[in-house]
Amino acid sequence: MPAQANHSAPTRVAIVGVGNVGATFAYALLLSGLAAEIVLIDANHARVEGEAMDLNHALPFTHPTRVWAGNYSDCAGAVVTVLTAGAPQNPGETRLDLIKKNAAIWSQIVPHVVKANPNGILLIATNPVDVLTYAAWKLSGLPAERVIGSGTILDTARFRYLLSQYFAVDARSVHAYIIGEHGDSEVPVWSSANIAGMRLPQFCQAQQIAYDREAMEKIFLQTRDAAYQIIERKGATYYAVAAGLMRITQAILRNQRTVLSVSSLIRNYHGLDDVCFSLPTVIDRGGVEQLLRLELDSAEIEKLHRSAEVLRKTIRSLNLD
Ligand SMILES: NC(=O)c1ccc[n+]([C@@H]2O[C@H](COP(=O)([O-])OP(=O)(O)OC[C@H]3O[C@@H](n4cnc5c(N)ncnc54)[C@H](O)[C@@H]3O)[C@@H](O)[C@H]2O)c1
Repeated sequence: MPAQANHSAPTRVAIVGVGNVGATFAYALLLSGLAAEIVLIDANHARVEGEAMDLNHALPFTHPTRVWAGNYSDCAGAVVTVLTAGAPQNPGETRLDLIKKNAAIWSQIVPHVVKANPNGILLIATNPVDVLTYAAWKLSGLPAERVIGSGTILDTARFRYLLSQYFAVDARSVHAYIIGEHGDSEVPVWSSANIAGMRLPQFCQAQQIAYDREAMEKIFLQTRDAAYQIIERKGATYYAVAAGLMRITQAILRNQRTVLSVSSLIRNYHGLDDVCFSLPTVIDRGGVEQLLRLELDSAEIEKLHRSAEVLRKTIRSLNLD
């Protein structure tokens, strides 16, 4: 069943987990004027009250919006509930420890959100985002089209930005996707990457420059490892992911049918099933309208299978069934 829009109600967006990512998204959403109501929910209620006060003081410069520190019952009627709650990774903890902690947080949060709001869309950013998108789908019982992970929206943005710098064109004019896991096993789709419909080798030929495979590989590695580079310098990443969450939210609220690389349940794609990862996806008011079944070359298919296997292994370790 698609998300049901109540056209008489103000457009509400709920945010669960208002740390770096959640607060930056709330700020971007407020500036955009897209939501009439923004409810902030976090285990640290004092912090979230402070965020609500700070955001409300921007209202004379922005748009009439109701912003408040709420609780799970306030998710009722939200078109989108953005989940960015997560435990910090403590020194000495493995990635799997963190996954188990965040999965435990999920089993607290998701049932509360869905009880208050069975008709909304869940948009997940917490890492590991593909695994937690799958867990949110299982725990919520929602139709898969209403459970979306930010997936590789950020990696695709980084990829397009770096390619745009290399080829000296606007990042919005570069059409190239990162698919699969948001993480180390992600897959760059070179076979269809293009500028103005010209595949990159063709574009180079037209520009009378050599197509430099090594430079391309370096761009992919910079894309894949960008988070490590940023975290080393400033401790966390939040502006670009918040902008990506904004773009997904806008596509939903405005029913835009925008193609975005986001994570959702995969069914029968190159033999892959029952796992969440990113593919170019048409997003509309109902959430996932359709996954675009990209044609891939054989090396890309093989990498995607490896990426899916990494995700499946983690999903299995959580014993969600
Ligand atoms: N998907 C992406 O592309 C992407 C990019 C950047 C960060 N992230 C992820 O987003 C998550 C949040 O990052 P951050 O920098 O905002 O972290 P943060 O520590 O600043 O914020 C996390 C918030 O979650 C809250 N929280 C923890 N447990 C909770 C619970 N049980 N109920 C409600 N709230 C709870 C905390 O109080 C905190 O305010 C992390 O998992 C991070 O890895 C994802």
